[in-house]
Amino acid sequence: MIIAIDGPAGVGKSTVAKLLAARLGCLYLDTGALYRAVAWKTLRSNIPPTDREQVVKLLPSTSLHMQFQNGAVQVLVDGIDVTGELRAPDVTTAASVVSAIPGVREWLLPIQRQIGQRGSVVAEGRDIGTKVFPTAPYKFFLDADAHIRVERRHRELVAAGRGGAIEATHQDLSDRDLRDRTRPIDPLVPAPDARSIDTSTLSPEQVVEVMISAMSTGL
Ligand code: DC
Repeated sequence: MIIAIDGPAGVGKSTVAKLLAARLGCLYLDTGALYRAVAWKTLRSNIPPTDREQVVKLLPSTSLHMQFQNGAVQVLVDGIDVTGELRAPDVTTAASVVSAIPGVREWLLPIQRQIGQRGSVVAEGRDIGTKVFPTAPYKFFLDADAHIRVERRHRELVAAGRGGAIEATHQDLSDRDLRDRTRPIDPLVPAPDARSIDTSTLSPEQVVEVMISAMSTGL
């Protein structure tokens, strides 16, 4: 069984997807981490993320694995555990840039689908319900007021010791949103059969309750 959760940055997707996966005993698939892993390799190879040709050339010689152990997820690039580096600001920006490259999306598609075959999965990203798992029986699209998303993301960054000016968070989020929503390939749009949830005034636990009751009544 696949549960697809899509939505923009700062909407609470990861928190909700992890809670839902724990509650249902499913794997939690963070597809953004795979884009971040490609971005990490690009930066590590001194290739500008905007150099589409060079980024795509890197992929055939790249090995990318997600390991699931006791509820924790590790991302390995060429055998190196890069999990702790994937949320760095330069990787975040580069991930948004490389995710607009069609060759990167094509390369990551079978990797995501293979993980989906490992069992029941709560998968979170931007194109899960539209592209990666279009036949998923349960699809959700989370959204929230733009300034609430900025505040949430800023709090996360501060908690991780990476908080700068809130204006910078605002700029970063709106740049990423624009890129994710307007790219020609697999843009961030709700699947026609997704249930939309506005998380602006809901706690993560409340969002999970809405999801579970939607799933029990067939969305
Ligand atoms: O969810 P995230 O912030 O970790 O995602 C990092 C980037 O990857 C984000 O800017 C958009 C991209 N992404 C995507 O294009 N498709 C996905 N399914 C997941 C993430």
